[in-house]
Amino acid sequence: MNADARPELSSHVENMDQYDTILLGYPNWWGDMPMSIYTFLDEYDLSGKTIAPFITHGGSGLSGTPANIQDEEPHATVTDGLAVNGSSAKNSQSTVNEWLSEIGF
Ligand SMILES: Cc1cc2nc3c(=O)[nH]c(=O)nc-3n(C[C@H](O)[C@H](O)[C@H](O)COP(=O)(O)O)c2cc1C
Repeated sequence: MNADARPELSSHVENMDQYDTILLGYPNWWGDMPMSIYTFLDEYDLSGKTIAPFITHGGSGLSGTPANIQDEEPHATVTDGLAVNGSSAKNSQSTVNEWLSEIGF
């Protein structure tokens, strides 16, 4: 993170053109997304697509990460994000369903 690194991803989406919506999930690491998520956002032009961000965390919530995604993808629509504490992730199905409903799925 200090070096603004872009770790290489081990797999790639060959047919991103066919996706309208990306559900983008990641853990909160030091108040931001893991740098591999920045690699992902660098790798694809998500202009015109909808990005729905969700995070697991240990207390910091989303930490403004949806705005960081919007900075990286200025021509995408970034929905309200979902924050789930890692310790309660296993029991969060109804929370996830409510969020999906709220953002139109
Ligand atoms: C390197 C590292 C940095 C982290 N930084 C934060 C942080 O700044 N804020 C936070 O709420 N959680 C932080 N966490 C906790 C992770 O978000 C949490 O472990 C993850 O979401 C999964 O939850 P779980 O470990 O309870 O399964 C960090 C974890 C790691 C490994």
